[in-house]
Amino acid sequence: MRLFLSSGDLVADRRYEFARDLQLKGDLPAAADLLEQAIELAPNFASAWFTLGEIRRQLGQPEAAITAFRAAREADPEDRHGAGLRLMQLGAEAVAAMPPAYVQTLFDQYAPRFEAALVGDLGYRGPALLLRAVLSVCAAPKQPAFFKRAIDLGCGTGLAAGAFAEHVDRFIGIDLSPRMIEKSRATGFYAELETDDMLSGMTTKPDASAELILAADAMVYVADLAPVLREAKRVLVAGGVFAFTAETHDGEDVIVGGGLRYAHSAPYVRAAVAAAGLTLALLEDLSARNEDNIPAPGLVVVAVKP
Ligand SMILES: C[S@@+](CC[C@H](N)C(=O)[O-])C[C@H]1O[C@@H](n2cnc3c(N)ncnc32)[C@H](O)[C@@H]1O
Repeated sequence: MRLFLSSGDLVADRRYEFARDLQLKGDLPAAADLLEQAIELAPNFASAWFTLGEIRRQLGQPEAAITAFRAAREADPEDRHGAGLRLMQLGAEAVAAMPPAYVQTLFDQYAPRFEAALVGDLGYRGPALLLRAVLSVCAAPKQPAFFKRAIDLGCGTGLAAGAFAEHVDRFIGIDLSPRMIEKSRATGFYAELETDDMLSGMTTKPDASAELILAADAMVYVADLAPVLREAKRVLVAGGVFAFTAETHDGEDVIVGGGLRYAHSAPYVRAAVAAAGLTLALLEDLSARNEDNIPAPGLVVVAVKP
């Protein structure tokens, strides 16, 4: 589903709709022509600029695509289409944080069909992988795998709390998307739910107030892991566990991957965990979901507060 922000001009909006039909039928040059006409009528038409950027990218015209994505963001400074991510992916801008309005809009739109799409179509297995990883880390020193207070970062519809329900007494869920929070609320798994960015949500938590922090398929929306890891260390009790999934790549540092999510390299994750003062208890090459029907390269990470 593509976000559509009306231009306010009926004729321009109609040209956009025709252009989308043509794009879906594969006639990209004709779709680009129509979008250019729509933009002539409504120069601040963010959805038309964004779609034109996508088409130019598909046509192998990166410079022209960059111009269109820049115009899309100028027309909608909140950047609900995520044009900034495309600019990062095309190398026009350095990798930086995702626009929060993009994440919120994406998941608000996605919420009604999230579980069918992610679990059904993409074989999502993040919560099960995290549970297995946390149980194995607890088994080594024969610690009971029971956590009084847990925080679920980017809790979505509540799948991670569901997987950990028997192992946690009290869950707090934090998510940027109000619609995803509504779904989480309906599960009854959470004692508290907050519509907030995960980092700002964590900053309100007292020191040493959680035994477990989870982030299932949520760090893929966070470019710089360092601030979240630092806050996790502060909020965890000694011996507390932070478990998360990530997408990864063989290069260095952090890139924007094909699915417009961040991929963090294993060396980057190791360094960020150590710099935060956490101990890496487990880092495994495991994929939490498929992309184009093959497992997206992924990591499962368990870090412990010493
Ligand atoms: C792919 S979903 C995963 C949801 C859930 N953890 C699961 O395992 O099904 C990612 C979720 O992270 C949320 N999210 C992304 N970036 C966030 C941020 N910076 N702060 C809070 N939530 C965020 C999104 O709104 C979305 O609900």
